[in-house]
Amino acid sequence: LKLTRGKHNLVYKILKCAVACNKKYEPTWESLDSRPLPEWYDQAKFGIFIHWGVFSVPSFVSEWFWWYWKETRQKNVVDFMEKNYPPHFTYADFAKDFTAELYDPDQWADLFKESGAQYVVLTSKHHEGYTNWPSNVSWNWNSMDVGPHRDLVGELANSIRNRTYLKFGLYHSLFEWFNPLYLADKASNFTTRRYATEKSIQELYELVNTYKPDIVWSDGDPGPVEYWNSTGFLAWLYNDSPVKDMVVTNDRWGAGCMCKHGGYFTCQDRYSPGVLQHHKWENCMTIDRYSWGYRRNANIQDFLTIEEIISTFASTISCGGNMLMNVGPTKDGMIAPVFQDRLREFGSWLKVNGEAVYSSKPWRSQNDSVTPNIWYTEKPGTVYTFVLSWPKSNWIELGEPVPGNSTNEISLLGHKGLLEWYIRNSLLHIRMPNLNTSDLPCKWAWVLRLSGFV
Ligand SMILES: *[C@@H]1O[C@H](CO)[C@@H](O)[C@H](O)[C@H]1NC(C)=O
Ligand SMILES: *[C@@H]1O[C@H](CO)[C@@H](O)[C@H](O)[C@H]1NC(C)=O
Ligand SMILES: *[C@@H]1O[C@H](CO)[C@@H](O)[C@H](O)[C@H]1NC(C)=O
Ligand SMILES: *[C@@H]1O[C@H](CO)[C@@H](O)[C@H](O)[C@H]1NC(C)=O
Ligand SMILES: *[C@@H]1O[C@H](CO)[C@@H](O)[C@H](O)[C@H]1NC(C)=O
Ligand SMILES: *[C@@H]1O[C@H](CO)[C@@H](O)[C@H](O)[C@H]1NC(C)=O
Repeated sequence: LKLTRGKHNLVYKILKCAVACNKKYEPTWESLDSRPLPEWYDQAKFGIFIHWGVFSVPSFVSEWFWWYWKETRQKNVVDFMEKNYPPHFTYADFAKDFTAELYDPDQWADLFKESGAQYVVLTSKHHEGYTNWPSNVSWNWNSMDVGPHRDLVGELANSIRNRTYLKFGLYHSLFEWFNPLYLADKASNFTTRRYATEKSIQELYELVNTYKPDIVWSDGDPGPVEYWNSTGFLAWLYNDSPVKDMVVTNDRWGAGCMCKHGGYFTCQDRYSPGVLQHHKWENCMTIDRYSWGYRRNANIQDFLTIEEIISTFASTISCGGNMLMNVGPTKDGMIAPVFQDRLREFGSWLKVNGEAVYSSKPWRSQNDSVTPNIWYTEKPGTVYTFVLSWPKSNWIELGEPVPGNSTNEISLLGHKGLLEWYIRNSLLHIRMPNLNTSDLPCKWAWVLRLSGFV
């Protein structure tokens, strides 16, 4: 046995699995954090986030509508209610208008596939507490009893799995803003645990056993880890659940967990550090700059442009992250044309440039030292250079890549032929092809393939 010959040795791989695959995780962070992240996640790079719930009915300001209305008494939200609804209208009254009559999960699945995403994460329950599946522990506040009268989670899971190769993940909010059981536990300083044990944890087990998600995307900072028994749940998830081998988790499992414990790190919404991170991370961000849920009061300039999206994405994957890009469907179940447009544009860009994206690794440098707006990724023997703006002179100068000892060739993804290049004063000068706009391989950002550079 030549165990010293490295990771690619088959015997080494089998032995490693024999140890790792039978490993039992203890309900401690030390043990849970030692679990290797299933490889599919890092290879996937890009996923779609979906925020959908009763908040999609008022669809005003954001998915935090209920909180702004009742808790912080934000003026525009309070005024909106006073102007448009009778005095005794409650948030729960919105649920009957969560109709979803145009919800066609096959259409959603096809759109997500077209976008180039490799996984999808749907809100199964946001902080409002309404479950998008017929939960046994959410009496009369779930999508089967009130509103669509459908299993929104189950239908999307089926469509994604029947029509695409995408992975299917579920977002779940541990806490609920106004649940009386939760508020009572909170008032006891989390020494009583009725809400956690009778509601939140039960939901997590239901979701995993029923829908077998590839990602459990937990949310909720309030409340200590011991209150949620997150480590107990994760030990079950990793050891005994129906998804124990392939499931991926994030880092929001109770107070103080974010950016520290769990699977990959989300750290904060729209996290985009711009420098290499040594733990796998995810930039969850929104196409609508100001909201995760659908907002009728959004204007076109509130939506990220495709250039902004690609620039965020290039920086994210160069620094070791995945990007989880959010769309907010309407109460009737449509993904509005502006979201469709961005997803299709991004998909068309990935069709040309996916080689530099999927299964790539961060390179030794993340961005160039000389020319701004250049990001790098790597595959064995090849450095990929993301050029976010076409150089005016058609010549581009790079301070980082140097020719290695094997054959050195440079090409533009989506374009036939090799590009001219030379080194002067330690700078790599590359001549971009002389192309008319209509002949460009893609419209917004271009990727150079540098073979044999190191
Ligand atoms: C989709 O998949 C589910 C189970 O995953 C199955 O019950 C259903 O019949 C499938 N539908 C189609 C149209 O294949
Ligand atoms: C709800 O309870 C019933 C009866 O115990 C069970 O058959 C069903 O699978 C449960 N639903 C979920 C989503 O766990
Ligand atoms: C925590 O979860 C584990 C695994 O389900 C369970 O065995 C244990 O009893 C739970 N502990 C508490 C305090 O709820
Ligand atoms: C490369 O990225 C770092 C960190 O974000 C930044 O400080 C630096 O200015 C960038 N370099 C160039 C040439 O833009
Ligand atoms: C090229 O090969 C020489 C001799 O084997 C070695 O010293 C050098 O480090 C190599 N250069 C690169 C960039 O790999
Ligand atoms: C660009 O278009 C013009 C006019 O159609 C044509 O004469 C020229 O050859 C084209 N250039 C390239 C590089 O294709």
